[in-house]
Amino acid sequence: MASHIMILSLLAITCSLAIGFEPSPLQDFCVADPASSTRVNGLACMDSKLAQAGHFSFAGLHVPGNTSNPLGSRVTPVTVGQLPGLNTLGISIARIDYAPQGVIPPHTHPRATEILTVLEGSLQVGFVTSNPDNRLITKDLRKGDVFVFPVGLPHFQWNMAGEKAVSLSALSSQNPGVITIANAVFGSNPAIADDVLAKAFQVDKTTIDHLQAQF
Ligand SMILES: *[C@@H]1O[C@H](CO)[C@@H](O)[C@H](O)[C@H]1NC(C)=O
Repeated sequence: MASHIMILSLLAITCSLAIGFEPSPLQDFCVADPASSTRVNGLACMDSKLAQAGHFSFAGLHVPGNTSNPLGSRVTPVTVGQLPGLNTLGISIARIDYAPQGVIPPHTHPRATEILTVLEGSLQVGFVTSNPDNRLITKDLRKGDVFVFPVGLPHFQWNMAGEKAVSLSALSSQNPGVITIANAVFGSNPAIADDVLAKAFQVDKTTIDHLQAQF
């Protein structure tokens, strides 16, 4: 009986792993075929005989992103959209440029853990654990420091310094997805009802209208 329970528990753990993360590829590669109208969980594969080196490469990650915007930051993603050879491989990369005081605002990646390396300058980074603790885990990073944001948890990056900063992130999905908290809550289309947000944030509707007007 005890052994049955153990086997069931093991099966449950194995199954949840298989569902929670991108599955292992069933072939060497599956270069995304943008022309295919077939829909699978991911993108359909092109004929592997037609795959060329160009499908597995991306050029230009040395080029600084333009940070002249209100947040003072720019993400240059290299996901399956930019690099079709990433299809089914469960991995992607991004360069992030930060102006002095630049911010990547609190956001989550619904499908990926992110591991970040500071290449230039310094950053304050942090993530918040789930309810009920909502503990902020934060650290000031210098050039060469590495930090991991666990899958799904809201996190941010802030260049506190007076000089620019650059980081490189690897993500455990070909298509990590981004949900910026402020945009999702105050900038949804159509808007979430004022009454819902006023109660959720325990403020009056004028404050909600002011926040919504920013997005
Ligand atoms: C950077 O973006 C700003 C605002 O969109 C634009 O005015 C400026 O020309 C851009 N700079 C470069 C070098 O592309």
